[in-house]
Formats: sequence, C-alpha cells, structure tokens
Amino acid sequence: MKKHKVDVMISKEEINNKVVELANEIEKDLKKSDNEVICIGLLKGSAIFMGDLIREINHPMKMDFMSVSSYGSSMETSGVVKILKDVDEDVEGKDLLIVEDIIDSGLTLEYVTKFLLNKGAASVKICTLLDKPYRRKADVPVDYVGFEIPNEFVVGYGIDYAELYRNLPYIGRVTLL
Ligand code: HPA
Ligand code: MG
Repeated sequence: MKKHKVDVMISKEEINNKVVELANEIEKDLKKSDNEVICIGLLKGSAIFMGDLIREINHPMKMDFMSVSSYGSSMETSGVVKILKDVDEDVEGKDLLIVEDIIDSGLTLEYVTKFLLNKGAASVKICTLLDKPYRRKADVPVDYVGFEIPNEFVVGYGIDYAELYRNLPYIGRVTLL
C-alpha cells in the first residue's frame, strides 16, 4: 500500500441526510407496484449503505446479496463479469432494487441487470450512493443517485482501498503522498 492520506469528502451527516432522501423517494416508487420486492446488495461495498438505506424504507422487502468481479482490464470493455455469489432468492416476477456503493463504467451493473432480467425479474432498478458519470462506458439507467463525485479515489462507508477503510463513517478522498 502506497503512502497516502484520507480527508473527508462527504461527512457522516451529509450521508445520513442523503440516505433518508433516497429512501423516501424509493419508498414512494415501490408503493406504485404490488409485486414483491427484493433489495440486492453488491458485496462488499454496498453492505453498509444498504443496511442504513433499507431501514429508512417503510415497505415490505426481502434482502439478498450478490458478489461479482470484473475480469482484468483487457476484458473490461466487453463488460463480462464473473458471478462469485448468485442471489439466494427466486427473483421471478419480483421488483428488484440493486444497491451499489459506487458506479463508474457501469459495465458490471449492465451485466448484473441483464442477468437478473434473464431470470425473470419483473423490474430492476438501481440505487448507488456515489456516481462518477464521466467514467461511464455502458448506457445503464441509474434510478437513484446519492452524490456525483469528481474523478478521485474515495474510501469509507463500505468502500475500500485494499480492503481497508470500509468502516469509516464518512466518504474520504485518498491522496497519495
Ligand atoms: N474507490 C474505491 N473503489 C472504486 C472507486 C473509488 O473511488 N471507483 C471505482 N471503484
Ligand atoms: Mg464496488
């Protein structure tokens, strides 16, 4: 790990306010449909965000997780990802809400969305805490975005640098020293 420092980019309070705002919006939309709802977090980054988010949504739902990994950089443009852990629940006919920590290229999410629709999901919506839209390579519709952030490396609130910093209560910017 290179020498680096971490500064606050988005505070705990700003995150909390945004989580409530997103949850209210999602709750309103979920109530428009009678389908069963499954919230699907992409491990590991989304786990903390998802825990906070779904506790603010007053609507029945199941909770599930997937773990996916992108192939190396040469495969990146193909958007091929490996499913390391599939959903446990039967998603057929269900309204799915994918929860992600950060979206950049969108290739992984595009693949996962197609994968879940192929399994017969009634609908798939995406909620991300952070978005780097100028890095987008796939035209994947993101329904709920917490914060658009600049092209900087961030950690905290579930997001890691070499598996560390996931437990920071804020989003921090990493600067190499
Ligand atoms: N931090 C950690 N993981 C990431 C980032 C980031 O800024 N962007 C895409 N994956
Ligand atoms: Mg991630």
